[in-house]
Amino acid sequence: MQIENAVNFIREKTNGFVPDILLVLGSGLGNYTDGLVGVTIPYSKIDGFVPSTVAGHRGALFFYSSNNKNIAVMQGRFHFYEGNSMETITYPIKLLKKLGAKTVILTNAAGALDTTLSPGDLMLIKDHINLMGTNPLIGKNDDAMGERFPDMSNVYCQNLIKKAHIAADEMGINLKEGVYAATTGPSYETPSEVKMLKIMGADVVGMSTVPEAIIANWLNMKVLGISLVSNYASGVTDSKLSHSEVLEIGKETSDKFKKLVNKIIEKM
Ligand code: HPA
Repeated sequence: MQIENAVNFIREKTNGFVPDILLVLGSGLGNYTDGLVGVTIPYSKIDGFVPSTVAGHRGALFFYSSNNKNIAVMQGRFHFYEGNSMETITYPIKLLKKLGAKTVILTNAAGALDTTLSPGDLMLIKDHINLMGTNPLIGKNDDAMGERFPDMSNVYCQNLIKKAHIAADEMGINLKEGVYAATTGPSYETPSEVKMLKIMGADVVGMSTVPEAIIANWLNMKVLGISLVSNYASGVTDSKLSHSEVLEIGKETSDKFKKLVNKIIEKM
């Protein structure tokens, strides 16, 4: 089976590394692993992985240890708007679960739906709204992995949220909390869609994270979600949206983000 091949291959390349945590890096956060010592495996070598086609996403798994924890980092994720199936997008979560990971930290860049958040802010995801028009669990259920109708009342682990706030307080970072709405993209929203999302109860909007969170929850993994606010969503201010702006804010904020994630992992 493809997933068993990939598990065996990664075990061989990493000398039997058993990850505790999977960290998924979003747009502009790809330099997280710079300066760290570990093992890199390009996606092109892993059975079932597809190339990452988005600027700012490197396309490799990185394995390292820190604070007595083994961490696997996805440098770039698979998006629905790239034409990937939900199966492809969520395959890495299943793979890392099979390798031993019990916790997943999902990060992304997202647009703020009003001015209570500003570009450069970090926001913990307390809940999400799935507006992708599909669900990664559609199809035959693998009962050995998770339930047919998984409960979704606590996708984002309260305990990890508390730890993240403690870490942020210690570092003097103003860490916000809010609801993430996921659309398919790749076009950004219209101003009217942004108004609708706000009325629905979302605080930020992005094009990822939710499929991975649904699968991780199904697999009984603990999930922590962190959004880097990269821009005001369409219509919130007069400015136009661009992917380069999203990447730029990612770069500017990556130091703060990296230190925060390290501190949170230290507390896990
Ligand atoms: N909308 C959707 N996805 C995004 C945005 C946005 O404004 N910013 C970063 N990802």
